[in-house]
Amino acid sequence: AEAKDPNVVGLETSSESSSDEDEEEDGEDEVTSAVEEEDTDTVSKNPKVEVATEAVSDEAVNKPRKERHVASKPAVFVPVHRQADIQEARLRLPILAEEQVIMEAINENPVVVLAGETGSGKTTQVPQFLYEAGYASDGKLIGVTEPRRVAAISMSKRVAEEMNLDSNEVSYLIRFEGNATEKTRIKFMTDGVLLKEIQSDFLLSKYSVIILDEAHERSVYTDILIGLLSRIVPLRNKRGNPLKLIIMSATLRLEDFTDNPRLFKTSPPVLKVESRQFPVTIHFNKRTAVDYVAEAFSKTCKIHTQLPEGGILVFLTGQQEVNCLVRKLRRAFPFHSKKKGTKAAQTLANGDAESEDEGEVELDMQKAIHNARKARRKRQGSEVVLPEINLDSYSVVPGDDTEADLLGNDDDLGDIESDEEDQLNLRGLAACQPMWVLPLYSLLPSDKQAQVFEPPPEGSRLCVVATNVAETSLTIPNVKYVVDSGRMKTRMYDKVTGVSAFTVTWCSKAAANQRAGRAGRMGPGHCYRLYSSAVFNDQFEQFSVPEIQRKPVDDLLLQMKAMDIDKVVNFPFPSAPDLIQLRSAERRLVLLGALEEPKKKDDWTSKVTPLGYAISAFPVAPRFGKMLALSHQQGLLPYTVCMVAALSVQEVLLEVPIHGVEEEAENAGQKRAQWIQTRRKWAGMGNSLLLGDPMVLLRAVGASEFAGRRGQLLQFCMDNGLRHKAITEIRKLRVQLTNEVNLNLPDLNLCVDPNMAPPTDIQAKLLRQIMLAGMPDQVAHKVADNEIKEDEDKAKWKHAYRCAEMEDPVFMHSASVLRKKSPEWVVYQEVFETSKLYMRGVTAIEPEWLPTYAPALCNLSPPLVEPPPRYDEATGKMLCHVTGTFGMCYCVFICFPRI
Ligand code: CDP
Ligand code: MG
Repeated sequence: AEAKDPNVVGLETSSESSSDEDEEEDGEDEVTSAVEEEDTDTVSKNPKVEVATEAVSDEAVNKPRKERHVASKPAVFVPVHRQADIQEARLRLPILAEEQVIMEAINENPVVVLAGETGSGKTTQVPQFLYEAGYASDGKLIGVTEPRRVAAISMSKRVAEEMNLDSNEVSYLIRFEGNATEKTRIKFMTDGVLLKEIQSDFLLSKYSVIILDEAHERSVYTDILIGLLSRIVPLRNKRGNPLKLIIMSATLRLEDFTDNPRLFKTSPPVLKVESRQFPVTIHFNKRTAVDYVAEAFSKTCKIHTQLPEGGILVFLTGQQEVNCLVRKLRRAFPFHSKKKGTKAAQTLANGDAESEDEGEVELDMQKAIHNARKARRKRQGSEVVLPEINLDSYSVVPGDDTEADLLGNDDDLGDIESDEEDQLNLRGLAACQPMWVLPLYSLLPSDKQAQVFEPPPEGSRLCVVATNVAETSLTIPNVKYVVDSGRMKTRMYDKVTGVSAFTVTWCSKAAANQRAGRAGRMGPGHCYRLYSSAVFNDQFEQFSVPEIQRKPVDDLLLQMKAMDIDKVVNFPFPSAPDLIQLRSAERRLVLLGALEEPKKKDDWTSKVTPLGYAISAFPVAPRFGKMLALSHQQGLLPYTVCMVAALSVQEVLLEVPIHGVEEEAENAGQKRAQWIQTRRKWAGMGNSLLLGDPMVLLRAVGASEFAGRRGQLLQFCMDNGLRHKAITEIRKLRVQLTNEVNLNLPDLNLCVDPNMAPPTDIQAKLLRQIMLAGMPDQVAHKVADNEIKEDEDKAKWKHAYRCAEMEDPVFMHSASVLRKKSPEWVVYQEVFETSKLYMRGVTAIEPEWLPTYAPALCNLSPPLVEPPPRYDEATGKMLCHVTGTFGMCYCVFICFPRI
């Protein structure tokens, strides 16, 4: 069995194993035939063939026997038949020159850190090196993790294409979908997926190599994986079945991985790939723009009208900003204009693009896209057809902007070279091209995301307006100008309460430099920073804080404990979450009943309860896991599965009709009113209404399933204000959770019912109890009139609730279907902060459920003598009144517990 392992095969000297020798020869034979088949010109440039054959004999003979066991060199060389043009493009990547060095380091070390700038070819090429070196033969797998789903999908597609392999063989697996099969040899996945796999197979025995890509992004899961793999790799080595770990990162803060004795006893070697990065001239603004979207607009316009060819990449912070700027730019530089666009140009020149009259300039994006596609199709044939572009459409250039203004240097980091300057002046007078403006953010549908990789219609300039997704993981071709707002949007959590808020902050210096680097991929580039160098120097942090130190770690703590990692405080994190974070996560898990209460104050070894294990089996947050674990009664599971799927996905219900940038805002008000009406209808009556916002989601998902099976999903989502991508994701999660439940409870035979009837009144009531069971610490009680002090403004306290676990009041949001009803007791899914603290996902509960479903926070006083016990007809029991408080809700409630 040992000889079967590709890592071990190469260790045998040729005289020791005749079968291995055969394999070796086979391998070489195939190499030769591959050479013959391919265009010889291309292949002769390829260092691959020599490297592989040379390395095999060298290594096998020269290494002493003992060491060779770990320092393995697979004997097989697996040929890949690439197309000539792809091979040529590969050869231009800087990493290709380093193949031999990289592979030697990997063969000789269990762990290697590979650092290189974005675009140097790490993600697409290293898996191919490994494949060719035999790491995927004999049924072994090469695993690559990505922090972002977009990257996992697009990279697997790209690598499959480069290698001329099927998506069965180079596949991806993300939380709800994938195309991985038995035949998969290279598997791209999100880091969360690999963590789940470790739970079922701690040694990852299927894999011969794990590549942790984009480690510099410091996502929670990648951080944990590094810690876990630092233990798994030596274990696998000890068992004679070595696993290689490759940590790939941009050249940022590598010490966290390398100079960290808790992680790796001996520092892993760091290989740096020199990237072919052209110089990027950085231009700081004199003044830091407050309205950076407007500033980005004017800077982009100036670049487009005055500077030579080359794509523009604009960095903003979020979806809404991106869409807004895309709309503005499309209007300013349209593909078709009735009135020749001069109006737009004039408004621009007056410095006020907003006031432009929309009716005058016709924006015909659909048509433009159609034309571009048509042109592309034609181009693929022999005929070259330019899309219809009206070159007269733009003759006026903003006159008040001198070049110096445009460049806006405040620290003379260099100007545009003189020949470019000439061009610049020339272009200043020339007519203006249309601009091919595309948005890019993570919530954008995947097919729209993929558009940025395609060349723009001929004769137009590409402009991508992006959030920080374009910072490192995706390389957009042909970018020459970067416009950087210097900001990013992060979700900040309160360490103790878990309250979250999106805040726009300065990005780090490292991130700003990454962004600038995007301009130097094709040739010398320019980066326009919409902030001053003083702000950059004084206010930007060197690096961003790793995600693990920013987020609540409930999920992580439970998953790790369920893996028998008892003392999570001692876990070798590259950068550990702080103790307050761990303690509050632990506390929430104890309240949930997933962890046992710690025995002492400084005890970190609390164990997972049986309920906790059940919860951790589900790939959702612990709260939702508990809801699933408790629903095995009264036919509730189909509903809980559906509700949990919906609650696990962000931003399902749209607030305003901004579905895409193409949508015009005309009917916005009318449409919104329609959506609200539908949501009210979905909320229903009685217990259904009291189930509140989750009820709306339940109905929305049920109806989408129905629409989806008839192929009408997109329209349905648009008509009802649902985010299409979210709904698609929910549908997938619903299937996955259904399968998961069936695995745990095989007798149930649960299926996804496209005609699921709404829950009955009794079921809706039980679902409300289940919501409470999942969120026992997120109970809130309405602030009563008599609680408000005399001198205070009553209106200020309208819709205010007192929480169990927080001192500040929270408010019922206007988007909640329960706002009008304003029930006395509620549970909420989360609190987010905008102008006030608002509850999201609100369900009404009854106070008498609290002792049963949320006992930990109840402080009950002894039963009162008055009023006397009474007979409850519904239960047939004698009940008595009990008063008490719940958490920090300083109010008395009355409940009727069993005697
Ligand atoms: O991982 P790293 O950032 O080092 O580079 P990569 O993602 O492997 O990309 C290497 C090259 O392949 C870049 O120049 C990309 O532009 C190109 N590429 C592409 O043309 N199409 C893709 N779908 C992915 C990468
Ligand atoms: Mg990469």
